[in-house]
Amino acid sequence: MISSVVRICTLIWLSLCLLTTIVFYNEIGRLNIELQNFGVSERTECNFKHKRSTDRQELNASLENVEKTFRKKAAALSYLLKTDIDRLRNETDQVELVFLVDASGSVGLNNFQSELNFIKHLLADFSVEPSATRIAIVTFGGRRHIKRNVDQISHTGDNDNKCYLLNKQLNNINYTGGGTYTRGALLEALRILEKGRANARKAVFLITDGFSNGGDPRPAANLLKIEGATIFTFGIRTGNVDELRDIASFPGDTHSYFLDSFVEFEALVRRALHRDLKTGKYVPVTYPDNCNLLCRNISEVGNEQNCCDNFATCACGTVTGHYACICPAGYFGSGLRGSCHPCPNGTYASGEISGDLTTMCTSCPDVNHVTVKVPATSVEHCVCASGFTTDGNKCEGN
Ligand SMILES: *[C@@H]1O[C@H](CO)[C@@H](O)[C@H](O)[C@H]1NC(C)=O
Ligand SMILES: *[C@@H]1O[C@H](CO)[C@@H](O)[C@H](O)[C@H]1NC(C)=O
Ligand SMILES: *[C@@H]1O[C@H](CO)[C@@H](O)[C@H](O)[C@H]1NC(C)=O
Ligand SMILES: *[C@@H]1O[C@H](CO)[C@@H](O)[C@H](O)[C@H]1NC(C)=O
Ligand SMILES: *[C@@H]1O[C@H](CO)[C@@H](O)[C@H](O)[C@H]1NC(C)=O
Repeated sequence: MISSVVRICTLIWLSLCLLTTIVFYNEIGRLNIELQNFGVSERTECNFKHKRSTDRQELNASLENVEKTFRKKAAALSYLLKTDIDRLRNETDQVELVFLVDASGSVGLNNFQSELNFIKHLLADFSVEPSATRIAIVTFGGRRHIKRNVDQISHTGDNDNKCYLLNKQLNNINYTGGGTYTRGALLEALRILEKGRANARKAVFLITDGFSNGGDPRPAANLLKIEGATIFTFGIRTGNVDELRDIASFPGDTHSYFLDSFVEFEALVRRALHRDLKTGKYVPVTYPDNCNLLCRNISEVGNEQNCCDNFATCACGTVTGHYACICPAGYFGSGLRGSCHPCPNGTYASGEISGDLTTMCTSCPDVNHVTVKVPATSVEHCVCASGFTTDGNKCEGN
């Protein structure tokens, strides 16, 4: 009797030991898988306590190496991307950009957001308006989930500018889920670009994390190339390397980007882009109330319909993507109510400028020039002060 109780206890004790060992080895196994994912060679023996601390140090060293490699890779890739983008912008102002964004189930909502952020960052140096860069954004999941969310290319609208795109349209794009019908997405890009401007530079950015299904996407990609489009592919996590290289423009190696994670993907674009902080051109917008978010206070307090100055117009910075009230030529100021001032005496402004600094106005060529007319909008409004005679662009003392 007693001996059988002992036997049962021993049995229970042994099974507990076995269980603990299994759990322990599972942990080790997981660690190893993680290490393998980082490209670190496999280690199996982790039996002694002091050994574990050495391992931690080695893990630390490995992680630091991974980080270094990661940084090196990111630097190389971002340099490549920067060059690609520069080449796109270099030849002509007219650019048609189509983004094909994977919205399939495997991407997940957060990563989908990373893809949209990519678009935002990539556009940092493009002037988005009908006469310059035009954008289309297509999300794709399964066959029934090819969605043209934005399309300024095949038909133009009142709101084709960067401000509306970044502040409104991008936020309204829905994540659909489903399969990865890359072929369908490429065909949609083709239908859009066929209606593009004949002389514009055309590019397609395909961002995907998976193997495509629903047919070979390569023939569709070839039709796009024949149409004159340059195709860039971004494979993230499990992207099909061969397929994406084939889809990309020749040479595939420099037109396809493979990244291990969406984090790496975001890091890439943050490094590669966002450079010149030039103001760029402003285009008046159709709905002046777009500018009201610039001064919600004033409109609340003063019950004003439009928070821009009476002289100013609501416009979109086609490079910055921000709305701004713009004073007319010859004036400077923030453009908000009561803040458009004539350029100081002796200076002028030939175009619309945005900003509170008098230095935004251009000085007349000679220190003895004054401006008599308001607004002074060109160098011709510079006249020599009394006591000086005009000699070309100079004033001679008498
Ligand atoms: C790795 O080691 C360095 C110094 O050797 C230390 O500064 C760092 O915090 C360690 N990192 C981790 C993740 O333990
Ligand atoms: C773009 O043009 C500038 C000057 O026009 C030139 O310096 C630069 O090398 C060009 N970049 C590319 C990638 O062609
Ligand atoms: C996104 O989904 C919402 C809610 O279902 C819908 O109201 C909205 O129109 C959708 N947006 C687009 C661009 O289809
Ligand atoms: C709006 O009013 C609040 C408090 O009245 C103030 O803190 C804030 O700076 C104001 N914003 C603008 C844009 O004027
Ligand atoms: C600029 O100064 C000159 C001389 O001081 C003066 O005659 C002229 O009226 C001024 N211009 C304006 C717009 O006030």
